[in-house]
Amino acid sequence: MPEADKEGERYQADRPQAAPGFFLKGSHQLDWGMKNRLARTFNPASGRTVMLAVDHGYFQGPTTGLERIDLSIVPLLPQCDALFCTRGILRSLIPAESQKPMVLRASGGPSILREELSDEQIAMDMDDAVRLNAAGVGIQVFIGGEHETRSVHNMTKLVDAGLRVGMPVMGITAVGKDMVRDAKYFRLACRIIAELGAQYVKTYYVEKDFETVTASCPVPIVMAGGKKLPELDALTMAYNAVQQGACGVDMGRNIFQSDAPKAMIAAVNAVVHKKAKPAEALDLYKSLKAKG
Ligand code: 5RP
Repeated sequence: MPEADKEGERYQADRPQAAPGFFLKGSHQLDWGMKNRLARTFNPASGRTVMLAVDHGYFQGPTTGLERIDLSIVPLLPQCDALFCTRGILRSLIPAESQKPMVLRASGGPSILREELSDEQIAMDMDDAVRLNAAGVGIQVFIGGEHETRSVHNMTKLVDAGLRVGMPVMGITAVGKDMVRDAKYFRLACRIIAELGAQYVKTYYVEKDFETVTASCPVPIVMAGGKKLPELDALTMAYNAVQQGACGVDMGRNIFQSDAPKAMIAAVNAVVHKKAKPAEALDLYKSLKAKG
């Protein structure tokens, strides 16, 4: 058994990692096309993104709030920085006139009907991502999961294909049902994903020591939303995540399952890009909701 690393104390989260000549952490030495796609996904002015995640159907079918993406999500497009969706939804429902950057779900396999979800494979060719003018691709990585090695290998194959064409890969920390979701786990998972080449990482927020997760990950982290929370809790989580070093969010259910999705995405935008405090953002949510 290799010796496990001791809990580190040297994260120095108060000292931002330098990225000379580019606005995004860990991305300054990438090629032009890759940087350009990242600069479409992340707002160069704030260095952050509000990505709207609507890819859930890839394993769970018509998820609550996504039954009619044409009616519920297309109207939200102007308010997000990027959309995270499947190629099926992109081709069938997202207007090709849209100028929004599209990040495409590139893994799949087991459905929600199976116990073990880590048995995924790459589910799309990089050629198709290029054909669709994608701004990036995203893939689950099941660190500690039953099919850990396969999912890591899926990601590294996708990264190699992405590097050939300048397509950023978002590695997503997929946590098994019985696994502990704490900073120690996410430090491990995010760092492995970054070390193995993903250009950015999507991961969950944890209340304790999240800044050690972002500080020890050399590429940008976007916060995953997770299950639906009351609006103030979701805005507080997003606020804390960006204050503690996340470069934005990739949120789904906390936006599209809100009673007022348009108001909620505006409130998330205020937190992410305008540094609004959670209470201010909640006021914005309430006033926009009241206006309908
Ligand atoms: C799970 C995923 C999802 O498919 C989705 O993007 C999750 O979004 P949310 O949890 O915010 O509803 O990436 O890891």
